[in-house]
Amino acid sequence: MNIQKPRGTEDIYYEKTRELSALELMLRSIAMQYNYHEIRTPIFEAKDLFVRSVGAETDIVSKEMFYLLDKKEREFVLRPEGTVPVIRSIIEDKLYGKYELPLKLFYIGNMFRYERPQHGRLRQFNQFGVEVVGAKNYLLDVEVILLGYTLLKTIGLNYLTLKLNYLTVGAARTKYLVVLTAFFQQQELCADCKIRVKKNPLRVLDCKIDQNKFDIAPKIYDYLTEEENNEFKALQSLLTKLEVPFVLDYKLVRGLDYYTGVVFEIVIDKQERELTLLGGGKYDQLVHTFEPSLDYPAVGFALGLERLLLTLSEQNITLADEPYLDAYLICLSDHARHFAVSLLLMLRASGLRVDCDYLARSVKAQFKSLERLKAKHAIIIGDEELKKNVIKIKNQKTGKEQEVKFKKIIAFLNKENK
Ligand code: HAM
Repeated sequence: MNIQKPRGTEDIYYEKTRELSALELMLRSIAMQYNYHEIRTPIFEAKDLFVRSVGAETDIVSKEMFYLLDKKEREFVLRPEGTVPVIRSIIEDKLYGKYELPLKLFYIGNMFRYERPQHGRLRQFNQFGVEVVGAKNYLLDVEVILLGYTLLKTIGLNYLTLKLNYLTVGAARTKYLVVLTAFFQQQELCADCKIRVKKNPLRVLDCKIDQNKFDIAPKIYDYLTEEENNEFKALQSLLTKLEVPFVLDYKLVRGLDYYTGVVFEIVIDKQERELTLLGGGKYDQLVHTFEPSLDYPAVGFALGLERLLLTLSEQNITLADEPYLDAYLICLSDHARHFAVSLLLMLRASGLRVDCDYLARSVKAQFKSLERLKAKHAIIIGDEELKKNVIKIKNQKTGKEQEVKFKKIIAFLNKENK
């Protein structure tokens, strides 16, 4: 029988769950400071939703989706990303008519992509993302970039680079693609890019094999309309004023087709190669694509929690508190073990963290467990003490041992904890 987990997935436990929970807590609290509200959407959605929005020619849609068929043979997929489900929910539940505009939403949840697993790349991973929908103002784009940058700085990460690009739309994009395609036709391209150049020429700029050859490629900034150019310049100058360092990167094209303006990524510089922690941008036409009567501009980003955890551990940063116990019960007899059950109940009800041995181990072994579990106190229960309605409490730090009446145990431990 195969009892292995599926390739590209992880079991998360003990230290790692503690780090993940601490990270989620920080992300939630920073998002709430920025006045973002949490949204949870299903982990599976109709397949067409992503085909129509992320783009049929993107890697995500063409090769990386996990398919599900229901009993009526309708096609669903495990969600590969969070933006499209959020937009679907906004339209379906008319959130734009119920809440203050712009809608400022955030989510944390599992995404699924059938990718080749490697360092920082999984088939099931967690994303934290934000989406702001319903206002066109470059100040909001700055807020979203600032939120992403601040998050990573607040959790203590170093060696971050913020990359910016602007993906023009309409006639300007068409003109740029013609020039770019002509440039690529004069280059020796890898097998994948020979196909990409016909279907999605922008993506060729992102080729992991040939990127260095494209330093002399035509740059998209030279094709922006005057309005786009002014907006991009204003955004850059505000980021500079806010002391958020960035670099311009015309090869930053993103792997999803819905972007229509500024796009950005925050990468971590490693010796061998970069790891993208966070990516996003503006997507002003997505709402309109699904619901032509609506015209709500939008901007957002998502970051991968597993990549963040990896980077935190590489930079020796821990977010979670070390686990500890207020007390561990040491039972000197079977009678004491029975008494321990009710004592634990009472101590836990008062909010103390306590535990005892359930393997009927020797006193020496119980003390060893106590040390491993980093208990602050030993509560020693013996037959003689039970007869006198007392127990002994040893402070593990000072070594001081005292007899304490049953009635006074909670008050005693609370005083010691102060
Ligand atoms: P994305 O760039 O595809 O954008 O993913 C965002 C982040 O998710 C990546 O930077 C990375 O940290 C993480 N990620 C992606 N794929 C994997 C994987 N296979 N394993 C581990 N981590 C991964 C989006 O998903 C857009 N929805 C972002 C967005 C929101 N744009 C506008 N709003």
